[in-house]
Amino acid sequence: MTAASSNAVQAPHVPVLIDEVIASLSIQSGETHVDGTFGAGGYSRALLGAGAGRVIAFDRDPQAIEQGRSLVPDSLGGEGRLILIHDRFSNMDSVLEERGYAPVDGVALDIGVSSMQLDQPERGFSFMSDGPLDMRMSQAGMSAADFLNNADEAEIARVIKDYGEEPRARAVARAIVAARPLTRTSELAAVVRKALGHHKGMKTDPSTRTFQAIRIHLNAELDELETGLRAAERVLRPGGRLAVVTFHSLEDRIVKQFLKTRSGATPGGSRHLPEMKRGPRPSFGHVAKPVSPGEAELERNPRARSARLRTAVRTDAPAWDQPKAGAER
Ligand SMILES: C[S@@+](CC[C@H](N)C(=O)[O-])C[C@H]1O[C@@H](n2cnc3c(N)ncnc32)[C@H](O)[C@@H]1O
Repeated sequence: MTAASSNAVQAPHVPVLIDEVIASLSIQSGETHVDGTFGAGGYSRALLGAGAGRVIAFDRDPQAIEQGRSLVPDSLGGEGRLILIHDRFSNMDSVLEERGYAPVDGVALDIGVSSMQLDQPERGFSFMSDGPLDMRMSQAGMSAADFLNNADEAEIARVIKDYGEEPRARAVARAIVAARPLTRTSELAAVVRKALGHHKGMKTDPSTRTFQAIRIHLNAELDELETGLRAAERVLRPGGRLAVVTFHSLEDRIVKQFLKTRSGATPGGSRHLPEMKRGPRPSFGHVAKPVSPGEAELERNPRARSARLRTAVRTDAPAWDQPKAGAER
């Protein structure tokens, strides 16, 4: 590990749009809030600081939960006020119900990877440092190396196109297949750069989109987000607040579409349609315009560049759909 990367490991994750998230959650003293993406605990800490009586925090990464546990007694509100759960936020409804915490007053989701994950070369998320081709947030299941060394070219191309929006996905997939087996992030980055052409002074590294795509695919991030929004709909009490921060257009589109449909702004739920054609009653209202970081935040934290916050308030209508029977943990 280089000095620079070992320093980076120490650097804490800087919470993104934190003031805006906390404001949108209008926390009342003693309320119960869910932090679906604990990471380094920036949101949880702020939720407790703003008066939440209890925060139930999820992370699928065992390392994030382990590090969080060591912080609980000192800086994170003490035992009892912060409950850490190693699970995916898409399971929040069943977990909260089982443990008797539902319904809750607010749910915050800060989608994506943390700085700790990105900056640790051994997690394999970054093209900027060499590490094993891993990229698994949960540290379980198929790794990036498993996928890239075994999937067929068409499947690799589809992933890179759909989740990386890479216009030359087929050329990248062809180059990956020709270079197999790949075991290191530096090898993958070099293969992609060679396939797409790379010169100093390029604003964005050409391998950015491919790394993003593989990460999204392996961690089923878009499915998680869709299912997580539905789970939040089921656990929020009437009047409960939802705040979701995303980092790229694929995710933002999912949140935007979900809130549009659930608030009756699309034909599925429009109150202007005749009775027979109307969908279920809107389960969310007060859908706010998306919020992006201001200049000052971007100066402090360039990683916040593409962040977007969307917020809404739960109505008293029933959740639109029920959980999938026997959903896997
Ligand atoms: C952007 S970081 C959150 C940072 C946090 N808000 C903070 O201020 O420290 C995202 C975190 O969410 C976790 N994560 C991503 N998808 C998840 C999922 N589906 N369920 C639970 N945790 C998830 C990642 O492991 C990562 O630790």
